[in-house]
Amino acid sequence: MSNNKKILLSGVKPTGQVHIGNYFGAMKQFVDLQDEYENHIFIADYHAMTTVQNKEEMEKGIIDVALDYLAIGLDPKKVVLFKQSDVPQVHELTWIFNCLTTMPYLMRAHAYKDAEAKNKEINVGLFDYPLLMASDILIQDADLVPVGQDQKQHVEYARDTAEKFNRVFGKGEETFKLPEHLILSHVETVPGTDGRKMSKSYGNVIPLFATYEEIKKAVMSIPTDSKGVDDPKNPDESHIFAIHKLLLNEAERQALAERYTKGGMGYKEAKDGLIAALEAFIKPLREKRAMLASDLDTVFDILKEGGKRASMRAEKKMEDVRKLVGVKIY
Ligand code: ADP
Ligand code: TRP
Repeated sequence: MSNNKKILLSGVKPTGQVHIGNYFGAMKQFVDLQDEYENHIFIADYHAMTTVQNKEEMEKGIIDVALDYLAIGLDPKKVVLFKQSDVPQVHELTWIFNCLTTMPYLMRAHAYKDAEAKNKEINVGLFDYPLLMASDILIQDADLVPVGQDQKQHVEYARDTAEKFNRVFGKGEETFKLPEHLILSHVETVPGTDGRKMSKSYGNVIPLFATYEEIKKAVMSIPTDSKGVDDPKNPDESHIFAIHKLLLNEAERQALAERYTKGGMGYKEAKDGLIAALEAFIKPLREKRAMLASDLDTVFDILKEGGKRASMRAEKKMEDVRKLVGVKIY
């Protein structure tokens, strides 16, 4: 891994089955960026504990994220893949940040305000979430953090916290680098089987590692109008086309669009075409994931190795931090 590449860091919460919207909207970008940056991806297990408080669910969630990312082509030789809990130094740093941060400042966080507006019971972990995330980012000296719009504020919290530490303890030095967020803005929203944004919470997803039967079932559930086989159809109004086009190159896209507008292709044929395209796309991913799942020890070795590297970097950073705050006197 060359040293002049920028450091990119991203955390993924283990929160269940991923779908093709997650893939095209987020996961694929991590794989595409793995040559350009020194890429660190971690499984944010302790972050998930604000909601996941069950041993089996946590274990499964962690393993699923590792399998998902390795199956889509994340290369552990290029990317440091690790789990947050293998870098215990982040909690030490979080405590220091806790003591530098005021309650009113954390009360402005969107996630906290949303939870409060919904009258949810808010645990201290949820309240402190932005500072744990700031520690994840700052302890690794990340330059860039690729996040969706909803996480932008968290990166700002990390920047503010870095500035505050540097001001209070830094002795004029930049102990913590100020990270930037990287919004993957060119990414389109992937529609689900009902035409709305594909989302777990709408129940309109096509799982990224779906079986053939699951693919068929999802595609068959796409609603269509009453046009017959010979009627011309507008591809831009078809939920079938909206998903199918994600899997096609420009020329194929145009050719398929013409088949819709010309008439002569019924919805049954259009759906069969989409099922075949999804199966061709998903099958190799599904098989790779199953292969990885049959040898979990290898997956665990990858995580352990990544954890060692991430923790070594964190420890180096903490040695400076402990001296600067005055607890390391020998
Ligand atoms: P969900 O809405 O299914 O709960 P998440 O909120 O967990 O998905 O999203 C995880 C990541 O996947 C985020 O970076 C988000 O921007 C991306 N993502 C989710 N759904 C879509 C979609 N339909 N199109 C594009 N990107 C998406
Ligand atoms: N908060 C992020 C999410 O909910 C996950 C996360 C935790 C993260 N720590 C991070 C993302 C550090 C980027 C960098 O998706």
